[in-house]
Amino acid sequence: MKLKKNNMLSERINDIDHEIEEIIFRLKPTEDRLQLLKQISKDFREKRRVTDYQIDHVFPQDVAKKSHPHWTPSEVATRALELLDTNDKSNVLDVGSGCGKFCIIAGLYSKGNFVGIEHRKHLFDIAQQIANDFQVTNVSFVHGDLRNIDWTIYNCFYLFNPFYENVMGPSFWIDDTLPINEDLFETYVKSVIDKLKTVKIGTRVVTYHGFGGNFPPDFICMIKEFIWSGPLELWVKVHPDQILQN
Ligand SMILES: C[S@@+](CC[C@H](N)C(=O)[O-])C[C@H]1O[C@@H](n2cnc3c(N)ncnc32)[C@H](O)[C@@H]1O
Repeated sequence: MKLKKNNMLSERINDIDHEIEEIIFRLKPTEDRLQLLKQISKDFREKRRVTDYQIDHVFPQDVAKKSHPHWTPSEVATRALELLDTNDKSNVLDVGSGCGKFCIIAGLYSKGNFVGIEHRKHLFDIAQQIANDFQVTNVSFVHGDLRNIDWTIYNCFYLFNPFYENVMGPSFWIDDTLPINEDLFETYVKSVIDKLKTVKIGTRVVTYHGFGGNFPPDFICMIKEFIWSGPLELWVKVHPDQILQN
């Protein structure tokens, strides 16, 4: 009960924060889009804070409007990247990349190769366009279903509760361009679990608000923290001997 109250309070504080950011942004003289892209890019690369209002502003308005609750908040993205601890050798898959917000932040903020898979074609197109606008070279997108690609080539994964809309009413849906239903939720979650069974030991997985299922037993939760509206978790795949020791 107390936790629920704290979560509600934290969500309300985030909303107020967002409203303040929006007012500050509106009061500033209008920068042109190129200038804004350059500034955001510089700030992420130099590890300065970029607000959601700033980054969401570079996306088409109808997509930006869906930022809360569908796209990863800027502060959550940078913390998730710290947990993934990426370097030049990291190959990261964002499972359900939406408009590309997480991958684009990742490409600007961290080292590594970032790939987003997204089954909505129009979001995939936007992600490619915005990545191109930012001229990020370590980010790419695939249009398709997460079930149809090889997960074994990646050593890091990020999942922001990708299937949740399947168990929610239409007011929560991103849109109705693809089928949405509870059976699909079960199918996608099962597929993630099966895919995670195929990845290498040492693979790091960060979830925000979980992914709807339980990790296979050879994954250990190393870190769990509460940020913005929910839990951010780091899971690492370990050798079976290490599970017995724990
Ligand atoms: C909550 S959004 C997260 C977007 C992005 N990862 C971010 O953090 O900003 C989840 C995305 O997963 C996509 N998605 C859901 N099921 C999928 C599937 N089976 N294959 C590919 N993409 C999927 C949805 O279309 C949606 O854009």
